[in-house]
Amino acid sequence: MQKNKTIKWGIIGLGNIAHKFANELQLVNGAELVAFASRSKENAETFANMYHCAKAYDSYEAIMKDDTVDILYIATPHNSHAELSLLALENNKHVLCEKPIALNYPDAEKMIAASKKHNKFFMEAFWTRFNPSFKATFENVKKGEIGQIHYINADFAFSAKGKNRNRLFDLKLGGGSLMDIGVYPLFLAYTLLGIPEKIHAQSIFHPSGVDAQTAMILQYSDAQAILYSGICHTSNMKATISGSEGRINIDTIWHMAESYTVVKNNTETKYSLPTNGMGYTYEIEECHQCIQNNMIESQLWSHQNSLDLIKIVDEVKKQIGLDFPV
Ligand SMILES: NC(=O)c1ccc[n+]([C@@H]2O[C@H](COP(=O)([O-])OP(=O)(O)OC[C@H]3O[C@@H](n4cnc5c(N)ncnc54)[C@H](OP(=O)(O)O)[C@@H]3O)[C@@H](O)[C@H]2O)c1
Repeated sequence: MQKNKTIKWGIIGLGNIAHKFANELQLVNGAELVAFASRSKENAETFANMYHCAKAYDSYEAIMKDDTVDILYIATPHNSHAELSLLALENNKHVLCEKPIALNYPDAEKMIAASKKHNKFFMEAFWTRFNPSFKATFENVKKGEIGQIHYINADFAFSAKGKNRNRLFDLKLGGGSLMDIGVYPLFLAYTLLGIPEKIHAQSIFHPSGVDAQTAMILQYSDAQAILYSGICHTSNMKATISGSEGRINIDTIWHMAESYTVVKNNTETKYSLPTNGMGYTYEIEECHQCIQNNMIESQLWSHQNSLDLIKIVDEVKKQIGLDFPV
């Protein structure tokens, strides 16, 4: 694609995150929202009116055939990520698919194979990878600012009760804390320490069959990550990365942080990095840059990164006894 050409976006699945994403698209230069697709005509038209967008499709199949759409953002429940991504790639669309990439590793492999086969950009929407505080933390750790990492601690819990978050308690839709938010602490440990040697995980299950809360220990040769997710109560939502020479605290809410603190030699130094919007803007810019450079994957959150992460998730699922109906 020609550099600096406007990139035309379509959004599939018009719920909570679709609203936030549509808002953030308006903050990015060179992004144009051209179409929405919903299972319901009314919902598609409401979004189209709200965001001054010309096209509102009442089926997901219809938006796939729209040749004006360059990239589709898939914002549906977890169980449909694979099917819709495959359909979009087969219809020659670039794809930004919400996390988790899929319900399991084999499905994720198919999605990535389709991206290669059709030569279309595909990325799991792991927006934290592009968050300025996380990026600075990552770069500091990699250049040895806090020495060798021995310990990571991160939690992510919120109370989903009464928030119209029914999909979170629906096993068929891939609900539960692990798939929805447990992937964030796992992402932190994976990006900083890689694939663990061992994983220990335990959950408490909700009567609906989804994991209400999950505690995970990732064991490395010289480090441990203690991670947690939950959907029935709140938590601090802070992350700590501790090394032999100091530590970095990513401030609450760590996965979308606007600051971080380096603690070293008995001194605390806080760095403020306010985000543009809520911070979805950075993953949008990454999609643009990759598409304009004819890349089918991001170097910052690559196909292999997504495959590694879902492999770790699959191991946690196995340990806690979580299985989604096909
Ligand atoms: N990156 C982030 O910060 C972030 C934050 C929240 C969620 N997410 C991810 O985004 C995805 C959507 O989450 P959400 O919180 O936006 O969910 P949501 O509010 O429930 O919206 C999901 C939308 O998907 C569509 N859908 C298709 N099949 C459905 C089904 N069987 N049941 C319910 N809805 C169905 C619906 O749109 P139509 O009726 O219009 O078709 C629905 O409004 C998930 O993968 C989640 O993990 C990411």
